Amino acid sequence: MTPSNNIIKKKHLRVLSGIQPSGHLHLGNYFGMMSRMIHYQQENDLFCFIVNYHALTTTQEKELLKKNTFYSAVDFLALGIDPEKSTFWIQGDLPQVAELTWLLSSVTSLGLMERSTSYKDKVAKGIIPNMGLFSYPVLMAADILLFGSDIVPVGKDQKQHLEITRDIALKFNHTYGNVFVIPKPDIEEDSMLVPGIDGQKMSKSYGNTIPIFIDEKELEKCIMSIVTDSAPVNEPKDKNTPLFNIYSLFLNKNEQQELIERYDSPGLRYGDVKKELIERIKAHFDPYREKRNYLLDHPDDVHQILETGAKKATEIADRYLFHVREAMGLNYVNV
Ligand code: ADP
Ligand code: TRP
Repeated sequence: MTPSNNIIKKKHLRVLSGIQPSGHLHLGNYFGMMSRMIHYQQENDLFCFIVNYHALTTTQEKELLKKNTFYSAVDFLALGIDPEKSTFWIQGDLPQVAELTWLLSSVTSLGLMERSTSYKDKVAKGIIPNMGLFSYPVLMAADILLFGSDIVPVGKDQKQHLEITRDIALKFNHTYGNVFVIPKPDIEEDSMLVPGIDGQKMSKSYGNTIPIFIDEKELEKCIMSIVTDSAPVNEPKDKNTPLFNIYSLFLNKNEQQELIERYDSPGLRYGDVKKELIERIKAHFDPYREKRNYLLDHPDDVHQILETGAKKATEIADRYLFHVREAMGLNYVNV
């Protein structure tokens, strides 16, 4: 018997993903995950949340965390997450996920955790590791498994975390019976690793982002500082570069082909491409600013949406957790 039949009655595929409130949301977040989530809500059961428990592993600044959590929720709503069509909440409003993290920890091998490259990368970047940072993937597995998720849209950097989630779920099912749905990652080839203005992966923690709702002057400054080489104007240009890759995200197939031809021919000036990119970014995101400003001016509306989302999520989480506890022998009354 599949767990989905037993525990959750689903009409549609469940699509779930989360985002850390660790700074302004950026083009990497948008093309890597947010735009697909917004698209998926039309035909699927969409679960979307702001992972403030995860953010605690790298920040202890409480006012900043509160502000970033609120702004991340506002940005997501402004860009089109529809609370009527989806379940949208703040991770920390559901303590059930912390309980499931503990339960999953006891079937998670230490070796699996020790192979986590994201942990090693963060430590190499100078973050002082705490237990939360080490067990970050178990919390993420709990996020996903608690809702019987089928599909998890993420950027490429999260691939290993999804593999860990699947390993934990398989180990649990093998040990305690078929409780968890085994989720599949959804990683899109074209946008799986959006580069930052310095050419590394765009990330809030690397200070190399192009924020989605940056103001006009800042946007110009940001785009003008995308690193380029010093190839002379009359030579073809390298396409494996951040400016080319970022610009391509805003173009359809024909426009991408035209850009390739311009890069392959003499005469292209990076300054011109940067100006075009600024216009494209403005044209793409300006239509969402009005809704964003409205939400910023009406924080009570935002809180109401999040409260309703947390209630919807709680019903499902409680039901699932009951079955997990039952499977593990924690519901000891009927011995
Ligand atoms: P950040 O690295 O900026 O803190 P998060 O870890 O909060 O971003 O990522 C949220 C989502 O956005 C994840 O699904 C992640 O894979 C995706 N994402 C983040 N940065 C990028 C990027 N540069 N390219 C593609 N996807 C990204
Ligand atoms: N680890 C993810 C990131 O840094 C965020 C995240 C937490 C997540 N829980 C999740 C993503 C569950 C997908 C599903 O981007």
